[in-house]
Amino acid sequence: MTSNRRTFAIISHPDAGKTTLTEKLLLQGGAIHLAGQVKARGAARRARSDWMKIEQQRGISVTSSVMTFERDGITFNLLDTPGHEDFSEDTYRTLTAVDSAIMVIDAAKGIEPQTRKLFEVCRLRSVPIITFVNKVDREGRSPFDTLDEVADALALDVCPMAWPVGLGGEFQGVLDFATGEIARPEGDSREFLGKRDKEPLPANIADEVELAQGGYPSFDLEAYRNGDLTPVYFGSALKNFGVAELINAIATFAPPPRPQPSSAGTIDPSNKEVTGFIFKVQANMDPMHRDRIAFMRLVSGTFKRGMKLTPSGSGKPVAIHSPILFFAQDREIADTAEPGDIIGIPNHGTLRVGDTLSETNKVRFTGLPNFAPEILRRVALKDPTKTKQLRKALDDLSEEGVIQVFYPEIGSAWIVGVVGQLQLEVLISRLEAEYKVEAGLEAAPFDTARWVKGLDAALKNFADFNMSNLAKDRDGDPVFLARSAWDVSYQQEKNPDLVFSATKER
Ligand code: G4P
Repeated sequence: MTSNRRTFAIISHPDAGKTTLTEKLLLQGGAIHLAGQVKARGAARRARSDWMKIEQQRGISVTSSVMTFERDGITFNLLDTPGHEDFSEDTYRTLTAVDSAIMVIDAAKGIEPQTRKLFEVCRLRSVPIITFVNKVDREGRSPFDTLDEVADALALDVCPMAWPVGLGGEFQGVLDFATGEIARPEGDSREFLGKRDKEPLPANIADEVELAQGGYPSFDLEAYRNGDLTPVYFGSALKNFGVAELINAIATFAPPPRPQPSSAGTIDPSNKEVTGFIFKVQANMDPMHRDRIAFMRLVSGTFKRGMKLTPSGSGKPVAIHSPILFFAQDREIADTAEPGDIIGIPNHGTLRVGDTLSETNKVRFTGLPNFAPEILRRVALKDPTKTKQLRKALDDLSEEGVIQVFYPEIGSAWIVGVVGQLQLEVLISRLEAEYKVEAGLEAAPFDTARWVKGLDAALKNFADFNMSNLAKDRDGDPVFLARSAWDVSYQQEKNPDLVFSATKER
């Protein structure tokens, strides 16, 4: 049986139209009744807690969520990726949990830095991509320029599936190559309200279309699913052009849940055993409950409420009594879930990013690393009697993946590591808001960190000479705090029996 799940993310540069498109997708999927609700909900939620003020001030989304909607018997799971470049680690992990992605490009701006970065992450995992060139109701570049840019910049085959009939002031609709129909703007708002026709195209557009259809590779499902070709749709999220076509494209072309890599080979969704992995942990989703929610991507088996699963981290089975599915309007308690679905599991810190959950505790999914932080800071406590609270907070926040924490072997100054500057601001606000701990951050004499692995004797020998650069991470694993990248290569050369790793898989 083929699965009716489509689990995907939208990748884009800020301002390209991801939020608007998300709203329209949910609207068409019947998940929400009013456009604008995604933002309104977001604003209401943001007002609730202090640390989320950062989101508001910087106009970015720090949290990542899941939205589920249904259409024509297909269940779509849309995973929101944080849009800010600082959050590459979080975003990376979210992209490990999807089977495909939509890449939104602004018709006037083309490929922007963040689009490219996110695309590279998708490529690492061969995540297939459908391209949506947005804002064709505005003045933009020629569609040919956009197609050629995508092809050149991303080294992808491009296949136009639709074509804008004029741009900006000249905009008269979008031609769907599959049906030959033109979706037309109506009324003062020039929105698409359902009017389509097959009127002959203006001569200049007819020429363009002929060139477009002849000049690019034709659609090839296998090439798309391998991540070698991207079908390209043109539209306007704001005016509702191309949105239905996009949903159809995901329903028909995007892959159903894919097998996932594990230490014992790939695990197929058709396996009977219930397995999944945690790709995100989030606190404070509901101010009434201080729980955290761990987001699990179900890989195989049919999950049933109340089922016992064992997390690879703790090794102790937990009964999952109140799993949450994320329908766009409300959280709903899930009774069952299928491979590809995302389940929110409330917990008090037992579930951690990278954990595998399974019935037998034999499976370990791979490819969900922690990344060596690029910014290290020393935490300076303002009130020294709060040491215990600080330690608890740092442990909690590192479990959530907000920061990484390192406890040096010598001295009492704890070190936090992050991939992006913004995480430091989130750290300080959350320490104050949730743990009532006032702290500052000071420069640390380290530039980067590496997890060190090797036999006990070799490790001990290394430690004897480098005690002041050694620390333990949240799990007690040894970490080398290096003054520079050069320091890392120097130590690697001197200690060939040890492995200095920039990533760690739990
Ligand atoms: P993002 O989540 O990718 O950051 O982008 P978002 O959807 O917030 O859209 C950014 C801006 O672009 C918004 O305008 C939005 O209305 C506009 N926009 C999105 N899609 C289209 C489109 O198809 N055509 C046109 N013409 N504009 C589009 P804003 O003025 O910054 O925000 P707002 O005040 O309208 O919310």
